[in-house]
Amino acid sequence: MKDRTVLITGGASGIGLAMVRRFARANAQVFFIDANVSQGELVEKEEQEKGHQVTFWHADVTSLEQISERIQQLPGKIDTLINNAGVSHVGKVENTSEEDFDRLYQVNVKGMFVCTKAALPKLIENGGGSILNMCSVAATMGIPDRFAYSMTKGAALSMTLSIARDYVSQGVRCNCLSPGRVHTPFVDGFLAKNYPGQEKEMFAKLAATQPIGRMGTPEEVAELAYFISSEEGSFITGSNINIDGGFLGLKM
Ligand SMILES: NC(=O)c1ccc[n+]([C@@H]2O[C@H](COP(=O)([O-])OP(=O)(O)OC[C@H]3O[C@@H](n4cnc5c(N)ncnc54)[C@H](O)[C@@H]3O)[C@@H](O)[C@H]2O)c1
Repeated sequence: MKDRTVLITGGASGIGLAMVRRFARANAQVFFIDANVSQGELVEKEEQEKGHQVTFWHADVTSLEQISERIQQLPGKIDTLINNAGVSHVGKVENTSEEDFDRLYQVNVKGMFVCTKAALPKLIENGGGSILNMCSVAATMGIPDRFAYSMTKGAALSMTLSIARDYVSQGVRCNCLSPGRVHTPFVDGFLAKNYPGQEKEMFAKLAATQPIGRMGTPEEVAELAYFISSEEGSFITGSNINIDGGFLGLKM
């Protein structure tokens, strides 16, 4: 990864943050985009103090204008794009408002399209590279109370396959990762919002839904993302790779 340019969205927290750290440790030149300024600046500072080449850009992945402007500032080529920024929602059709549906679509679906559209010319210019999208087990399985979220992850999977097909001859690989539950602020926020006062019990319940008996860690997902994006992963394209503690494969 030395001197490779990696662009990660949603890099200020959770899985994206673990990815920023993983690629930075391997001496890649890492740019990360996030809507959270204070957290983004903190991560940039911490990484630069370790001597890593990490740059934070405050931008909203739903804005083609903002993202294109940022990508124009990249010093030359781009080798890897990781579309990781995402938001969640709990509810069935009946308790999903039009606003909830649109918000989930904007960040999780349109955001992926926007960043890919803006970065693709730079990947092609470079002679190819890797695009990795964050999907979820919710894309291929009916998870209770995740209507809008599942819709967005189904779209992420379909976009992955479409992009992989359209750009394979130009050396661009495109894959997605489908984690089961990973312990990040995404999960903590979800528990605090939806199960106030019952966070501990609900955490244990969520952990137990993985046959392996625990949630994944952001670092485990980042390690897989690193492998897929590296030279060693160069035979992988058009794949949806599960990392879920047996959630999909070992159904009870
Ligand atoms: N945590 C899990 O259990 C889990 C499981 C499966 C898939 N995922 C997926 O992994 C990805 C990362 O999840 P996480 O748990 O690390 O989440 P997180 O909430 O910890 O981090 C998401 C980051 O995205 C940023 N972000 C949100 N909207 C944005 C926008 N419009 N523009 C720019 N940045 C924005 C947030 O500020 C935040 O820093 C998401 O796509 C999520 O759907 C997570």
